[in-house]
Amino acid sequence: MAISKKAEEILNKQINAEFWSAYFYLSMSNYCNANGMPGFANWMKVQFQEETSHAMKMLDYINERGGRVILEPIAEVPAKWNGVLEIFEETLKHEELVTNLINACVNVAIEEKDHASVNFLQWFVDEQVEEEATVGEIIDQLKMFEGKGHGLYMMDKEFKARTFVDATQA
Ligand code: FEO
Repeated sequence: MAISKKAEEILNKQINAEFWSAYFYLSMSNYCNANGMPGFANWMKVQFQEETSHAMKMLDYINERGGRVILEPIAEVPAKWNGVLEIFEETLKHEELVTNLINACVNVAIEEKDHASVNFLQWFVDEQVEEEATVGEIIDQLKMFEGKGHGLYMMDKEFKARTFVDATQA
């Protein structure tokens, strides 16, 4: 059975939101690079790759269910912040928004009695819990040294090691 029209519509919107997120984090990555924080830049680049993989997972799903993917333009993203603490606070705010968007997708799938989509979206529900927790922990750590000094240097070093693992394929 093909995907319901309403589920197709909201998932298309979500693809755009995931690509916007990717672009948002890539912009943060560039900011970190320009401000002497290559490790944080790397962390955000991996975040960009994750968001791109989220968009692709949805895109593949719509195609698999006989729907039609329509790519919309990606709105402008911010380019300036006041240090990494602000970056991660904005990241958390953004991920909370994404959680709401994913929940709205689930609500539509439930209303449409599209059980395959409800099931598909569960992966994203779990992913959001993880993302919010990870970012929350980073904020707590950054607050301990007020987002600067030796602590920041050590964290930047640690974040250089983050690599992209495509969890959507697991
Ligand atoms: Fe695609 Fe950061 O959630």
